[in-house]
Amino acid sequence: MARSQSRYVCQSCGEAFLRWEGQCRGCGAWNSLVETLVREPAGGRQPRSAQPGAARPVQPVPLGSIDEDPLARLPVGIGEFDRVLGGGLVPGSIILVGGEPGIGKSTLLLQAAATLAGSLAANGGRVLYATGEESAAQVRLRAARLGILAGPSAAGIAVVAEAEVGRVVEHARTERPSVLVVDSIQTATVDALDGPAGSVGQVRESAYRLMELAKDEGIAVVLVGHVTKDGSLAGPKTLEHLVDVVLALEGERYAALRLLRAAKNRFGSTEEVGVFEMGEFGLRELADPARAFLVEHATPAPGSIVALTLEGSRPLLVEVQALTAPAGYGTPRRTASGLDPNRLALLIAVLGRRAGVGLAGHDVYANLAGGLTVDEPGLDLPLALALASSGRDRPVRVATVAVGEVGLLGELRAVSGLERRLREAARLGFGRAIVPAPGRGQSLPAVAGIEVIEAATLREAIEAALVPAGAPEPRSGRGAEAALGTDDVGRATGS
Ligand code: TYD
Ligand code: MG
Repeated sequence: MARSQSRYVCQSCGEAFLRWEGQCRGCGAWNSLVETLVREPAGGRQPRSAQPGAARPVQPVPLGSIDEDPLARLPVGIGEFDRVLGGGLVPGSIILVGGEPGIGKSTLLLQAAATLAGSLAANGGRVLYATGEESAAQVRLRAARLGILAGPSAAGIAVVAEAEVGRVVEHARTERPSVLVVDSIQTATVDALDGPAGSVGQVRESAYRLMELAKDEGIAVVLVGHVTKDGSLAGPKTLEHLVDVVLALEGERYAALRLLRAAKNRFGSTEEVGVFEMGEFGLRELADPARAFLVEHATPAPGSIVALTLEGSRPLLVEVQALTAPAGYGTPRRTASGLDPNRLALLIAVLGRRAGVGLAGHDVYANLAGGLTVDEPGLDLPLALALASSGRDRPVRVATVAVGEVGLLGELRAVSGLERRLREAARLGFGRAIVPAPGRGQSLPAVAGIEVIEAATLREAIEAALVPAGAPEPRSGRGAEAALGTDDVGRATGS
């Protein structure tokens, strides 16, 4: 029935064709044709309100007289997950959980399904877990490993190994679960479309149907989405506009730490981050995430400092590591992992011009420990200090942390939430913090147990941070492993 109803529609001009072509004959755009279902065979879509099953037409209402609608939320029951969602899943909403293959999306969602089923059991609620990636037996195997096979939660999860969205929707309409998990949107297909699973047309139509289901039945629908190497959600960008919440599960595949972040959230903040550890029995919440990204070193070494970052309302202390070495020939290498390469380039330039640390002819490698990715201006100063430390071949003084934004003139700028950051550093046993000098009329917060050193410029901060030249510190808890043999000599440009 349906084959004749699918058309290839150009995404830039809207022209429709019967067959796929590489270039649109209407506007000349390349690769812009997407297989799309035409709902009315006679052509011409009817307005949504006239479609069967759609809500009745709504009338404009004065803003002031709209009733308050307290969001009913279904807490997942995993604290870090709920934190990122802003309190729980909202019925009738659609949530996309993205991440690289193998990072732990299916694990997280099966664990979430279990805690949800446990708390929903009291009022007869259930979770439907539809998977096109694995067989039901494989899901069982994973559940056994996660230890959720016995107990009330297993009874509250219905598993269906089904990739065709029409049938998943049918199951959902008969089962009437409170939450539907679809793993993954890239394997989901719609029978009426010819394109392979994962093609733009399939992904979009699948998501559209699941969205209709969510709104009609008030089901919270959670979609799993794979992310490509470059970090974008595979499939169409349009998916991100369609859904209510986009979460990203991040981390290095071979490291245990995982971060859950909201890239978009119609019902909460996008600032919060959840921290997990992948273990033998699934993902575990960390008792003390602030110290999760710290590394203990036996001997101090140049190139390492602890940054006082803030993720949403939560301070995270993370070790920044830098290694500089004279470049052989050609353009020097610049490698950044977990931090913005443009920021790295900028700081190298500022260090050279404003702080007397010349790294122009050096290969520079910089990364954050633990696989964390940080994108906040407060990381500038610690990164610059780690670079200066490696460049000068002088370690950072013991138990020192830093935070601050660096301007093009080498001046330091304040960051938000300084007091909260400092309190966390003091709690974790750091005794010195290098922070930007406050603006006129402002003062630095006093925090017990930590000496706060203010610096107005990058040059001042470097002097405060590094061990004085020729005076190696005997022992310390923190420093970097990074000194691979004798490092370069940034001293050539001196300070
Ligand atoms: P998975 O959830 O299948 O990843 P995704 O759905 O994002 O592709 O997780 C796969 C990895 O996690 C796999 O390499 C094994 C590991 N893992 C554990 O370390 N512990 C566990 O308890 C489980 C279930 C998986
Ligand atoms: Mg999976």
